[in-house]
Amino acid sequence: MIRPAELIQRKRDGGELSAEELSELVLGYARGEVPDYQMAAFCMAVFFKGMSAAETFALTDAMIRSGETIDLGVALGRKVVDKHSTGGVGDKTSLAVGPIVAACGVPLGKMSGRGLGHTGGTLDKLESIPGYRTELTLDEFVEQVRDVGLAIIGQTGDLVPADKLLYGLRDVTATVDQLSLIAASIMSKKLAAGAQAIVLDVKVGDGAFMKTIEDARRLAHTMLELGQVAGREVVCLLTDMEQPLGSAVGNALEVREALATVRGHGPADFTELVLDACAKLLSLSDLGIDEAEGLRRARAAVADGSAEATWRAWIEAQGGTADESALPVAPIVREVAVETDGYVSELGAIDVGNAALHLGAGRRTKEDDIDHAVGVLVHAKRGDRVEAGQTVAEVHARTEAAADEAVRDVLAAYEIAAEPPKQRPVLLEVVR
Ligand code: URA
Repeated sequence: MIRPAELIQRKRDGGELSAEELSELVLGYARGEVPDYQMAAFCMAVFFKGMSAAETFALTDAMIRSGETIDLGVALGRKVVDKHSTGGVGDKTSLAVGPIVAACGVPLGKMSGRGLGHTGGTLDKLESIPGYRTELTLDEFVEQVRDVGLAIIGQTGDLVPADKLLYGLRDVTATVDQLSLIAASIMSKKLAAGAQAIVLDVKVGDGAFMKTIEDARRLAHTMLELGQVAGREVVCLLTDMEQPLGSAVGNALEVREALATVRGHGPADFTELVLDACAKLLSLSDLGIDEAEGLRRARAAVADGSAEATWRAWIEAQGGTADESALPVAPIVREVAVETDGYVSELGAIDVGNAALHLGAGRRTKEDDIDHAVGVLVHAKRGDRVEAGQTVAEVHARTEAAADEAVRDVLAAYEIAAEPPKQRPVLLEVVR
């Protein structure tokens, strides 16, 4: 039996762990034999010393082996697609992409995670929908992907339980933003859930875990390699996270915005990214179409209402109330107004993300409950012309004190300049 303290020490001192050692550590943790405090110390050692490619493969493999796996392709007799983001602020992309792709006739089965740090998690967003079940059995998951074309679930006791535990631990021990830990967390979920083609959205910028395009490229290549070894087709989109994506930041607010986008009324930057991801997924599917045709079909599914109908079918199949009016609403809504004329030159994604976190939209400890109703709506984005006194954002809060603090934080996230900033596209690069 390994001694976890020895492995922590070796990693702390810059040494390398064998595949067997990593496997014992991860599987021991998943079985409850290695305590949280040793795993937290191990993650911190990895944060400072990194992992070799061999270690990253071994970690991913051990995480997958901590639970069961499914071969969705065999179970459905169809090619199934999946998408995942490395995490950002206002990133509700999967909620809109899922129903659009499924409405185009391509099954999507996805395992998501909760919020990490200042970034929101798809599961937390979905849990703002009354009744929505994030824990399906494997049989229910497969059946729903077959019948409805779409299921989005959490890491369960069955699939990648090690990620469920590690994810929660990393969130509250400042060990999220490490390339190997992110790659293993994402790819263990994607490979265990069995989709054959995967689109990964690697966020870059102050609101992302990868702050530079170089780091984002390294993460993309690591995940591509993990996918390739497992025989999956993977495409990585490197996308902007210098400002929040779309307008809504906060769980129920983001569900509303995703639904608006599925209906064709979403914010421009968010809609562009959603349609692009859909086009890529459709071109990787068994429809035998290229990206241009994928984009045309995705747009058509939004325009003819079939994407919205799929949204409803999906939410209801998973036990949720599809009606928007069932979503929770915050009791206090405050406007945020700028004090000067000019152009929005910066809108710090991390500052808006932290404002939402402090309002209660995210967790400070593993045990924290989150408040699904609270968050921020940013109406003015980078490059927009604003005038003194204009409302640029809204804060949705539970208490007056929380609203006061968030108004100050959101205002501080805005920088106003006399000249318009250089435009930065939402899609920065594609890595295949
Ligand atoms: N998303 C995940 O699933 N895992 C991470 O570590 C980061 C983002």
